[in-house]
Amino acid sequence: MCGIVGYIGESEKKSFLLAGLKELEYRGYDSAGIAVMQNGDIQSFKATGKLANLVLKTQNFESKEFGIGIGHTRWATHGKPTETNAHPHWGKYSFVVHNGIIENYRELKEELQADGLVFLSQTDTEVIVHLFERFVTQGLEVREAFVQTIARLQGAYAILLITKKAPDMIFFSKNAVPLIVAQNTQGEKFLASADSPLIGYAHEVIYLEDGQYGWIQNNTLDLFERGKKIVPTYKALAQDKLSAQKEGYRYFMEKEIYEQTRVVSDTMMGRVRDNSIEFEELQSFDFSNIHAIKICACGTSYHAALVSSYLFERFAKTTVQVEIASEFRYKEPLLDPKTLFIVISQSGETADTLEALKMAKNAGLKTLAICNVDNSSIVRLADATILTRAGIEKGVASTKAFATQIITLWMLTLFIAGMKKTITQGKLEDELQALVKIPLCLHVNDFLHEKIRRLSKRYLHGHGFFFIGRDIFYPLALEGALKLKEISYLHAEGYPAGEMKHGPIALADSELFTIALMPQTILYEKTKSNVEELSARDATILAISPVEFALADDFIKTSQQTHPMSEFFEMMIITQLLALEISVRLGNDVDMPRNLAKSVTVE
Ligand code: M6R
Repeated sequence: MCGIVGYIGESEKKSFLLAGLKELEYRGYDSAGIAVMQNGDIQSFKATGKLANLVLKTQNFESKEFGIGIGHTRWATHGKPTETNAHPHWGKYSFVVHNGIIENYRELKEELQADGLVFLSQTDTEVIVHLFERFVTQGLEVREAFVQTIARLQGAYAILLITKKAPDMIFFSKNAVPLIVAQNTQGEKFLASADSPLIGYAHEVIYLEDGQYGWIQNNTLDLFERGKKIVPTYKALAQDKLSAQKEGYRYFMEKEIYEQTRVVSDTMMGRVRDNSIEFEELQSFDFSNIHAIKICACGTSYHAALVSSYLFERFAKTTVQVEIASEFRYKEPLLDPKTLFIVISQSGETADTLEALKMAKNAGLKTLAICNVDNSSIVRLADATILTRAGIEKGVASTKAFATQIITLWMLTLFIAGMKKTITQGKLEDELQALVKIPLCLHVNDFLHEKIRRLSKRYLHGHGFFFIGRDIFYPLALEGALKLKEISYLHAEGYPAGEMKHGPIALADSELFTIALMPQTILYEKTKSNVEELSARDATILAISPVEFALADDFIKTSQQTHPMSEFFEMMIITQLLALEISVRLGNDVDMPRNLAKSVTVE
C-alpha cells in the first residue's frame, strides 16, 4: 500500500529517491520521506501530502558523494497521515522505511516501552528500528542484529534499514510484500517495491521471494533465505514504465482483480484474532444504546452495504436499512439518534455520501465510515473510521475496493455480534475460520481466466444481460451487472432470482443472457427453479455453480465450499473477469470507461 526505494552508490541519491517515489506515488500520497547517509552522517526529510511537498523541502539538499539513501511514500494504515507518522522512522542512529503491516507491533511496542524506549509515532513501523538498536546495544554485530530483528516480526513487510553503525551498508527484508534488488553496469545497486522506479537506472533485477533478506555493502549483495546464503540470480529489467506500473497485467483493473487475495489479507491483518475480531480504531467508540443501523453509499459501495445487511441481521440481530445516498439526501429521512449511521466509500470523496454523512451528524447520530482513503473528506467528518486497506484503486470499475469492503463489513458484523452476544463462541470461531480462508478463494487460476476469456466471445451482442442470485448473491448479481455495463457498455441488470417471474421474464428469449449465480450453500434448489423457468423460455444461461446444471448453455464450475462467503468471493472473481474480457473483446477502454470518473465529487 506504500512505496519504498533505496540506493547505494556514488550518484546523486536525492534525485533517484525522489524520481522513484514519484513513480510509486500512486500507491500512497499521505506523506513521503527520505533519509540519506554520507560521510557517516544521516539527513532525513519528511513532508505530509503529495510528493511535491517533499521535493520543495529538499530543494537545497545535495547528496553527491558515495552514500546510501532510502525513501518512502505512505498510505496510512496505523496512525494519522502526519509528519511524525511519515517514514523514515528513526532510533538513535538508524533509520527504517517499511511497506506492509507488522501484525505483532503492539506486543513489541509494549516490550520496548517497558525497556524505557520512547516512541515518537503511532505507526507499527517504528518498532523495527528500536528492536534493531536494542540488539546492537546488547552487543550483537549489526548483521546479526538485523537478522534477530526480522525474526521477531510477524506480518507483511518490505523493509529497508540504514544505520550509522555500518555507513556503507543497506539492510533489507521481504515477506508477503514485493521488494526488488536491482543493479546497473556501473555497479550501482537499487531497491524498490516495484519495477517502475528502477527503469532508466538499473538493467537487471532480482524479485525477492518471501522470507528472503540480506544486505548490500558497497556494491556487494549478500542474500539469505531461512539462514542460508543463496546465490543471487538477476534477470533483465523490461524498460516500459506504464506496463511496469501494471506489473505485467494488461490493465489496472486486471491487476486489481489479481491483487484481491493480498489486499483482503491486509484488510484482515491484526483484526482477525484466534477467537474474536478486534478493531483498534473502534476502541473508544461507544456501541451501547445503538438499536439499529442505517447504511448509506453509492454504486459498488452500495452493493457492499446490501451484502452486509444480510450479515448484520443474521449474526448481530440488528435491524439494518441500506439507502442509496443520493436518494437519502432528499427524502426527508427520519433519523433516530439511537441508530448507528455507516457510510461506505472507496474514495471518501463521493459528494452524495458525504452529504448523507453530514445530515446524520447534524441529526446527532453516531457515525462510522468504511473507507479506503485516509484523510479523505468522509474520514475527516465521521466519528470513527475503519480503513479498508485496498491500496490505491486505479481502474474506474471498482474491484478490490469492493472485496475489502465486504471483508470489513463481515468483520464488523461479527465484532458487533460478539459484543451484543448474539452469536455463540462456537459459531463465531467458525466464521473466523471461514474469514481467514477467503484469500485462497480469491486466487485467480490461469485455467479459470482462460476459460472466461474464451467464453466471453459468445457474449458480445444480444439485447441484455440479467445477473440473478438470491440472498447475498442478489447484491453480487447487482455488482456483476454494474461491472459489465460500466466497461462493456452493454445493458445489464441485477435481479433477485425469485423476482424474475414478476415481470422481467417477459424479456426472455435466446438473445437474453442470464448469468445465474447458483451457490450450493444457500437456497440452491430455489435458485435452480428460477433458472429453469428462464431456460424454459429459451433464455441463454451461463450458470456459475459448484453443481453441474444440465440446462446451462455455458457453465463455469466453482469449487465445493462449505461457507456461503467462500462461494460469494469465488463467484465475484468470475463476474469481474467476465466483464473485463467482454470489454477487452469489444475494444473498450477498460480502465477509463466512457462517461465515468473514479471519484464522483458532484451531485
Ligand atoms: O468512492 P465511492 O465508493 O464512494 O464511489 C461510489 C461509486 O461512485 C463507485 O462505486 C462506482 O459505482 C464505481 N465506478 C463502481 O465500479
